[in-house]
Formats: sequence, structure tokens, C-alpha cells
Amino acid sequence: MGHKMKLQHFAENLRFPNFFQPDYPELQKGFALKGKWKRDFFGNDHDLIVELGCGKGEYTVGLAEKYPGKNFIGVDIKGARMWKGAKAAVDNKMDNVAFLRTRVELISYCFDVDEINEIWITFPDPQPRPKQVRKRLTSPRFLKMYRELMQSGGLLHIKTDNRPFFEYSAGVLSELGFEVLFQTTDLYQSQWQGEAKSFTTFYEKKFLEVGMPINYLKAKMVGNDRVKESENNSFFKRVYDVVRQIPHGRVTSYGAIAAFLGSKGSARMVGWAMNASHNSPMPVPAHRVLNRNGVLTGKHHFGSSELMQQLLENEGIEVKADQVVDLQKYFWDPAKELKR
Ligand SMILES: C[S@@+](CC[C@H](N)C(=O)[O-])C[C@H]1O[C@@H](n2cnc3c(N)ncnc32)[C@H](O)[C@@H]1O
Repeated sequence: MGHKMKLQHFAENLRFPNFFQPDYPELQKGFALKGKWKRDFFGNDHDLIVELGCGKGEYTVGLAEKYPGKNFIGVDIKGARMWKGAKAAVDNKMDNVAFLRTRVELISYCFDVDEINEIWITFPDPQPRPKQVRKRLTSPRFLKMYRELMQSGGLLHIKTDNRPFFEYSAGVLSELGFEVLFQTTDLYQSQWQGEAKSFTTFYEKKFLEVGMPINYLKAKMVGNDRVKESENNSFFKRVYDVVRQIPHGRVTSYGAIAAFLGSKGSARMVGWAMNASHNSPMPVPAHRVLNRNGVLTGKHHFGSSELMQQLLENEGIEVKADQVVDLQKYFWDPAKELKR
């Protein structure tokens, strides 16, 4: 988009009645619509659905058209992109749509506790480098914030082309007591019938054109009062409890942990738990968990790709071509070693 066009869009955004772009001093003073979106802007008491990183707002506008009995707000920092959704809503006289230009980091200045019923995160920037983890819209600091702002039982949807981001998000969600209701790593090949298939965003179109499968998950926020209990009992937590008991110089496999936890088919979930284990408040010796052939499949989640091997070698375990040599010698089976 040319510079002139951008300026034109910025100017029009200022005139749209559905477009809000509070600056930081205004947020600090107290944003007038915080806690009052339904009453003071939408003029009703309908559910509020928020799309984070909405870009041009395909979901915000698409869902709003389909569900006139619900309220929708698209949030992004890029005003020129948001213009498209805001203009479509104004042109079509949609009174259940607003756009809020702010950083997601600041949404607790814009929404009150329990004000949001549902959140969509559509094709967020994956922020792949370890240094960028905090910027991911599903990192613990963001999810804790959403948890505060969402009503108990509220739904969170994530659509992304990026598999590592997806697995990371599933891990953090589970750690923070969200219940994952459905997940797929190939939405359009799945039997899923929900809204995740109803709209194609600007970025999604680009990914589909080059044949990328789309990952999607739907999670439920359990009540804040129940979060602690759920955190303690979550599958990831149980995995970490087992991994912390693997002795120095021994290794196990994703499948062996899954079988020990009574969920043989969940080896992949154990893998996801290991990939997210750096989020756990207590250290988890994730380097001691390998695939069933002793291959270091999780090595890319260790900051540097050589670190997992180094940690194993420091414990006297020989590794060649990313695989533990003589796996049986070091193998530790939780089903045999731990009492249930
Ligand atoms: C890859 S684009 C996806 C846009 C749109 N959802 C789509 O699928 O076409 C990611 C969007 O997230 C926005 N974004 C990323 N981090 C943000 C943040 N911290 N606060 C607000 N917006 C953010 C960017 O401005 C960008 O528009």
C-alpha cells in the first residue's frame, strides 16, 4: 500500500464512528468504554467477541454479518489494514462491529474483567526466535491477561499456518488451565464443521495458495477459581512430574511416558508438553526425552540446536547423528521404575 493511500485510510479511520484509537495517556487516565462496550457503544447486552491481530478484520466483519445478535471488536495496531474492515462495517450499516487500534499488550486498559465472551486469534505473527517468545500472542503473559478479561467458559480460537507456533500455543493453554476442545493440524482435511472454515483471512489466502495446511484449535477458559486446580492436574503437569523423576544419565521416550500416564495414543501430546516445558515454573530435564528410536526430535526447542546433545553428553550419554547410541543401555521406563 502506497504512503498516500495509507494517509488517506488513517484520515478516514478518524471519521468512522466504529473506530477507536486511544493513545497511551488516554488509556492511563481511564478509557471511557472499558467495561462499558456493551452498554455505551453497542447499546445491548449481547455477547462480545474479540479478534486479536485482526488485520483487515475478515473474521470480525464476517462473523458479525452472520451473527447480528452478537457484538464484535477487531483489535490490531496497523490502522491502514483495519480501515478495510471498519469501512465495510460502516458501508453495510453494521451496528455490531467496532475496531480498536491498540497493541494487544494494552487490552486490559480497554476491557474489564469478564467483559469478553470469546476471542479469535487469526494468523498471528509466529515470532519464531527464542528471544521473541514473550511477543507471541499466546505466551503466558498474554493468555493470563485473556483469562482475566474473559468470562468463565469463554472460548478461544487459534488459526495459524505455523506448526511450531501452534504446538507452543497448545502447550501454554494446557499449562494455564484452558481446556482444548478440538484441535487439528489440517483444518480443511478435517471433519470440523465450525466457523474456523467459514472465512478465509488475507494471510490465510496466501498460505493456502502455496499449499500450507492450516492448524486450528478451540479451547475453553475454565473458571479462574478452577484454574489452579486444573493447572495442578493438567496432562502437561503430569508429564513434567514424570520427566523430573528421570535419573541423571538415563533417558525415556514420549510413548513410554504416555503409556505410563494411561494414555498410550498421546505420545504426540507428550512431545508438545516437552516443547513447552520451558514455560513450567519448575525446571524440567526435557533433554532426557527422545522418540522411541532414541532420536533427539525435540532438539530445536532448546534455544541452540546443539544444546540437547550437549546436555545428554554431559551426562555420559553418547549421541551420533542426532540419535542416542545404545538406547537400551540408558533407557528408563516409568512404568517399571515408578509406582502408580
Ligand atoms: C500475520 S498478520 C494477520 C492478520 C489477519 N489476522 C489475517 O489473518 O490476515 C498479524 C497481525 O497481527 C498484528 N499484531 C501483531 N502483534 C500485535 C500486537 N502486539 N498488538 C496488536 N497487533 C498486533 C499485526 O499488526 C498484523 O496485522
